Formats: sequence, structure tokens, C-alpha cells
Amino acid sequence: MLRTWRRSKGCKIPEDDARRFIRNAIAYYIFFEPRKGVVAHSAVSKLLAQDDMVNEWVGFVCSEVWPSACQTVPAMQKWPGSEEPEHSGVALNDPAGRGVWSILREDPQRARRFAEAMRMLQQRPGHDAKYLFSMLNWNEETTPGLLVDMGGSKGSIAMALLRNYPGLKCCVQDLPEVIQGTIKNADAYLLRMTLHDWSDKYAIQMLRQLVPALKHGAKVFVNEVVMPDVNALPFYHNQFLRGYDLSMKQQCNSKERNVEEWVELFARAEPRFQLNKVAIEPGSILSVVEFIWTSKGAEAV
Ligand SMILES: C[S@@+](CC[C@H](N)C(=O)[O-])C[C@H]1O[C@@H](n2cnc3c(N)ncnc32)[C@H](O)[C@@H]1O
Repeated sequence: MLRTWRRSKGCKIPEDDARRFIRNAIAYYIFFEPRKGVVAHSAVSKLLAQDDMVNEWVGFVCSEVWPSACQTVPAMQKWPGSEEPEHSGVALNDPAGRGVWSILREDPQRARRFAEAMRMLQQRPGHDAKYLFSMLNWNEETTPGLLVDMGGSKGSIAMALLRNYPGLKCCVQDLPEVIQGTIKNADAYLLRMTLHDWSDKYAIQMLRQLVPALKHGAKVFVNEVVMPDVNALPFYHNQFLRGYDLSMKQQCNSKERNVEEWVELFARAEPRFQLNKVAIEPGSILSVVEFIWTSKGAEAV
């Protein structure tokens, strides 16, 4: 659809300002100007106008991520070394000082936008479940009988796993209140993008809550970012993961972890978590770090 610069009725933006903003957007492929003074949709502006998920993602970044990013360093100065979610850039930006989890609990509109933004993030090719399958590398013998997806949200990954492994049974548990009653004696537990929401203090608490449910030999699969060494990746990929890490700091006062930090986290929670495997797949944003629970002291299973 073509529009001339003429303002529509009720539009309070002066024409000159509108023209400057729109031409700035055009420089980023949002709209285009097929002839001087006439504006048309580009593929990008059309997507923004028509796709709710993309629209919510942009709204989330502009209204939530940027303002709280600006407050992250002031939050670090105010609460040096804090591991509390209420001591984040998000909290400093919130008039009531709430952390991200309180905001999402108390504000359904922002919770909806957050959920849509996360759904958008999951659509990135680097989050594709096919990478999880190849890193798990299960065959008929090694596929667990029962897997509990802890923090599995609405179950999209559990469904993908069920489709891919016909012998598998899956149960999804989410929210701290539910996790306190974790299903006991499953063969495997999956934590996908859940521990990265929490600082070490709280991630350790979550792992300790899991312990009473674990049988000897149970596997715990962590499907999360494993931060690479600083020069290990191409520039863009490295930039992306470093940004991811800092956005966890600003949103939740938490972090993305490297292999050593994952191993240390589990050892601090309980030395009976033994590292079994680290799988990293080119193209995948997430990796798999696999631990085995042994109830017989520190000996191998
Ligand atoms: C980033 S989402 C990831 C969802 C899902 N695992 C996936 O990969 O699509 C994090 C999920 O962890 C859940 N969560 C966060 N903290 C939790 C906790 N302490 N106990 C249980 N679930 C938690 C959230 O409710 C949310 O569904």
C-alpha cells in the first residue's frame, strides 16, 4: 500500500518529524520510498504490521530491554556483587523496584509480551530442536523411559522430543512452586534455558531441590548456552553470545556460563552430580551438558 507524506486525520506528529523518522527507518529496510514523497511497505515493515509475535518482540526490546540496559551499570554500582533478581537493571527501571519475575506475575500484559518475545527468540534457526536431538544422540537403547522437562513452559520441546523418540515418555513441570514437588525416579531430567535465568545462588537451590527426586544413574541434561573462549568463534557469533550473557545480567541478574562454570555450579550444588558429556554443535546457540547422579558417594556409575 502506498502513502504520500500527507498526514492522516488525528495524527499529531508534524509532517517534517514524520518524514525524518520514516526516512531513518527506510535506511534500515523498514518501508521504502518508490518515488519521492511516497511511502510503501517493505517486507520488514509489512512483517511488523502483520505479525503479532514480531511486533511484540520489537515492543519488548524497545520498551523493556533498552531502558533496563541503561540501568544495568547503575544497578551494579548500587548493589555490587548482588545475586538477587530485584537488584537488576530491570528493577532499577521499575517505579516499584520489582524484579522481572514479580513484574511478569503482576502484569498480564507485559507477561504476554514477554512470552511472545521469547517465542520469537525460539524461532531463530540456532534454537532449532534438531540440534538438541543430534547432541543427545539417543538410540533405541539409550533413549530414557521417562524424561521430566523442568521449566518446560508450554511443552513445545517435550512435544518435539516425543515426536522424535517414539519410546520416550515426557512430563513437563514449570514454575518454582511446581518444581518443589519434582516427579521422582525419572530416568532423565531436562533443564533447557531455565538455569540461565538464575544467579548461582538460586540455580544451586534449584539443583538441590531436584536431588530428593533422583535415583542412582539418573541423567540431568542441561540445554543452555555454553559460553565459548573469547577468540573461539567467528566475530558475529561471539558478539551475539556476549550480548545474550549481558541481557541475562540486565533482566534477571543472572548469567550464561562456560563449561567450567557449569561443572562448578553442579559440584557446589552436590558433588554427586558427575559430568558425563559436553556436546557442542556448530550452528546451535545452545549446547548440552550432561550430568549423571550417583547416590553411591563420588564413585562413577
Ligand atoms: C526461558 S524459558 C524456557 C522454556 C523452555 N524450557 C524452552 O526451552 O522453551 C524459562 C522457563 O523456566 C521457568 N522457570 C524459571 N524459573 C523456574 C524455577 N525456579 N522453577 C521452575 N521453573 C522455572 C519459567 O517459568 C519458564 O517457563
